[in-house]
Amino acid sequence: HRHLTGIEGLQPHEILFLLDEADGWVAANRTRAIADKRLGGLTLINAFFENSTRTLLSFEIAGKRLGADVVNMHAAQSSVKKGETLIDTAMTLNAMRADAIVIRHMSSGAVRLIADKVDCPVLNAGDGQHEHPTQALLDALTIRRRRGRIAGQRVVICGDLLHSRVARSNILALTALAAEVRVCAPATLMPAGIERMGVTPFTDFDKALDGADVVMMLRLQSERMNGGFVPSNREFHLRYGLTLARLERAAPDALVMHPGPMNRGVEIDSNVADHARSAITEQVEMGVAVRMACLDVLTRRPRGVAGWA
Ligand code: CP
Repeated sequence: HRHLTGIEGLQPHEILFLLDEADGWVAANRTRAIADKRLGGLTLINAFFENSTRTLLSFEIAGKRLGADVVNMHAAQSSVKKGETLIDTAMTLNAMRADAIVIRHMSSGAVRLIADKVDCPVLNAGDGQHEHPTQALLDALTIRRRRGRIAGQRVVICGDLLHSRVARSNILALTALAAEVRVCAPATLMPAGIERMGVTPFTDFDKALDGADVVMMLRLQSERMNGGFVPSNREFHLRYGLTLARLERAAPDALVMHPGPMNRGVEIDSNVADHARSAITEQVEMGVAVRMACLDVLTRRPRGVAGWA
């Protein structure tokens, strides 16, 4: 089976194919009356070992809008709490004859591990610090719809880059699609060698913002810091918080993005999050369309659709 474990390994034409497929669902989603139940008869299992609002609900809504039966497994309420291993949990879901399994897990690589064990497509809904591919796809779709194109856009990704799977997947997708990507973080939250991913690192946010077309803010992932250096919220806001004054340094029509959940007043001020230039709620909307496209493409039979070999 073909899985979606990450953006890594996807060719630019495959990313563009998924964006085009997702774009095709946006208008229908706004009516919520989708007659096309192409996933009818399929069972989708969302297995979430970490908390989620946007990703879990949008995969559920995406599956249901296209006619799939969707069931959700929350690890906190499951037999994982009784000591069942990840592999045994995956084999249990597989024995129920799922047609697709969506997994969020706190360990990088957990999704790949499960993909190798089960008999259906597996979609990564975020694994540790590794990847969050559908987030990168919905971000790319948002940028393409709001800015007209991705190639040549100057995108600044600022925040806790060290722990962010969102940043990693976005860097892979946006550089593959020829955007100019700048990354900005305190030195302690900047992954070593990140420039090898084809991005320009900055520790000075004001400099990074110069002429930016898109400013993507990330929250401090304190749940992944494991006792390492954690800047205080006040400190972080002072040097890296996106304020209206700072946004002035970006292009006059720059787009503001955030994958959520936001910590208002820390990485982003409320008046920026709610600004006309903010695409934050549109990102959520694109998330449903992207997940419809991914579920559809990965469960298509026969496989080998044009653009997705
Ligand atoms: N952006 C994102 O993954 O949000 P959730 O954690 O709420 O799913």
